[in-house]
Amino acid sequence: MSRRKKIYEGKAKTLYEGPEPGTLVQYFKDDATAFNAEKRDVIEGKGVLNNRLSEFFMTGLGQIGVPTHFLKRINMREQLIRAVEIIPLEVIVRNYAAGSMAKRLGMEEGTVLPRPIVEFSYKDDSLGDPLVPEEYIIALGWASQQDLDDMVALALRVNDFMAGVMYGVGIKLVDFKIEIGRLYEGDFQRLVVADEISPDSCRLWDLETGQKLDKDVFRRDLGNLADAYTEVARRLGVLPQNAPQPSKPTLIN
Ligand code: TMP
Repeated sequence: MSRRKKIYEGKAKTLYEGPEPGTLVQYFKDDATAFNAEKRDVIEGKGVLNNRLSEFFMTGLGQIGVPTHFLKRINMREQLIRAVEIIPLEVIVRNYAAGSMAKRLGMEEGTVLPRPIVEFSYKDDSLGDPLVPEEYIIALGWASQQDLDDMVALALRVNDFMAGVMYGVGIKLVDFKIEIGRLYEGDFQRLVVADEISPDSCRLWDLETGQKLDKDVFRRDLGNLADAYTEVARRLGVLPQNAPQPSKPTLIN
């Protein structure tokens, strides 16, 4: 934490120097932002929940052979990760139309797509994370055709895993975003899932009721965000032991 050297501060997480070369400590903040940081709030307990949930998803991905940056959780808000070079693209997978896709194409939110669609946005808040065609990515040298093929394959494996895990606890995986990093190992580099996977970066709807259990609760003022994430964590059986409880006065004697 504060004793470690800060490497980078993002909107929801801060990266610190790790204990060994090639590692970083990823600290999950309680800050929530939406619409490229136009809307902001602090949601008590969100960082703790996302740290746990991201640990759960990244560990599961590792167990089925999908490479990630995750090494281990250190404490309630921090995890040890491998240092990677983040490709400045948001890799989005959609199973149902929602959000910007529904808006752009005038589709009803929740329309099932004939197959999962993978798209890329250029990660730049000041430009509003614009959608970029693969042609741009290659022409501008952000990634090669091989990288793109690998990124699509990685994203679809994450989609199958996440959709299955969520379905098992009565949740529909509508869409999600991942970030991918380059991991250098000697002369080799490979692409790994990086950043975080949490309800901040997914759309999750209850299968029965359609209730939203993701950051849209905050974006669209639909209720208490921490309650929604707690419900996801509860269903997955990863509720932190000492998660922040609703505050009650404590009697000291
Ligand atoms: P969108 O419909 O707004 O394009 O979002 C698609 C998915 O990507 C949705 O699950 C939310 C996630 N997402 C992020 O995690 N970060 C972002 O900056 C944006 C725009 C979307």
